[in-house]
Amino acid sequence: MDNKISANRRSFLKGGLALGGLSLLNPISAVANPVVLEEEEFSIKVGPYLQTDFNGSIAVLWITNKNCNSWVEYGETPEQMPKKAYGEGELGLLPAGRLNCVKLPDLKPDCKYYYRIVSREIVSFQPYKVTYGKTIQGAIEHFVNADLKKEEVSFVMLNDIHDRPNSIPELLSLDKGNKRDFVFFNGDIFDYQTNEQQIIDHMLEPCVSAFAKTTPFLYVRGNHETRGVFARDFKTYFHHVAYTAFTLGPVRFIVLDTGEDKEDSHPVYAELVDFDHYRVKQAAWLAQEIDRKEFKKAAFRIVLMHIPPRYSGDGHGAKHCTALFEPIMNRGKVDLVLSGHTHKYKVHPPAKGQNNYPIIIGGGPLKGTKTLTKVLATKTELKVVMLNDSGTEVADYVIATR
Ligand SMILES: [Fe+2]
Repeated sequence: MDNKISANRRSFLKGGLALGGLSLLNPISAVANPVVLEEEEFSIKVGPYLQTDFNGSIAVLWITNKNCNSWVEYGETPEQMPKKAYGEGELGLLPAGRLNCVKLPDLKPDCKYYYRIVSREIVSFQPYKVTYGKTIQGAIEHFVNADLKKEEVSFVMLNDIHDRPNSIPELLSLDKGNKRDFVFFNGDIFDYQTNEQQIIDHMLEPCVSAFAKTTPFLYVRGNHETRGVFARDFKTYFHHVAYTAFTLGPVRFIVLDTGEDKEDSHPVYAELVDFDHYRVKQAAWLAQEIDRKEFKKAAFRIVLMHIPPRYSGDGHGAKHCTALFEPIMNRGKVDLVLSGHTHKYKVHPPAKGQNNYPIIIGGGPLKGTKTLTKVLATKTELKVVMLNDSGTEVADYVIATR
């Protein structure tokens, strides 16, 4: 990230009115200490970072320090990137902000693409005259667009980082050299949401440095991402944070957004949450999902959810997840659930009359309890290996096709 103030940045005195006001109040100090503001040069604050839900496109995201008009140039060689894609319009208006998200459509399966982000600063936005400033671009990056029909799929899961950004490269370094289809963040990457800089410093920047320019990530909230003054802005920084389903290779993936752990009426939520209805809505969606042919014909069905559907105490959120999701997941013959939340890594095998599938829970966030969960699925076998932060294997679980 290069958001440091560069030497050639323009400095200027704050508008005459403000200076005049100060002069009237205290003419001596205003002359001796003029109010000087440094205008930041137009720059990329963080990115690019890739996200996808494996439904035919890949999203390229980046954040600029000023409003702009942005696009991505891309192609199959670094010398020739003839295609250009822009952010999605809304109600006929194309984006003109700082949070840039450009989906690259119609990508060929298993094809390597080169791309470059470009942003043109909007210096002034008058009703009938928009003035553009400098145009900046990122370096040429690359990614391989997944073949959705691939023979095997592999990914790693991180969870419960809790505002410890160094844990992201630390844990991912345990998997160095392996090419994964995606990285999955299974919630509680933060303690609570404060502002944009926290999202950049504690997640996006570590991801961009470690992998996210070339490998996409998916992200679902834990109970902690729903807290804090910035929780309602949080989703605008990501392409996928809610519940979803997708197929990649032999696996049908289900992502559930499990919400808060306490009852909605708890005083700390100040009458500002409604997770009961949100979970009920997801249960209705899941009940339809298990009847879809993509779900039924998949060799394996993996559910990713922050609060596990069992084994995480008697809190309202945990119990509600059990009551709503467990019967549907049993009916749908789910093969594996991957969760976090408890801060104690553990493998819970299937239990008669309860969960008919194993529930594997990643740990964190303290040293010795952090985990990297590695998953590899072929058409016949699903293998989960969990490493602790020293790189020691602490779990190994294999599931064969039914
Ligand atoms: Fe947590």
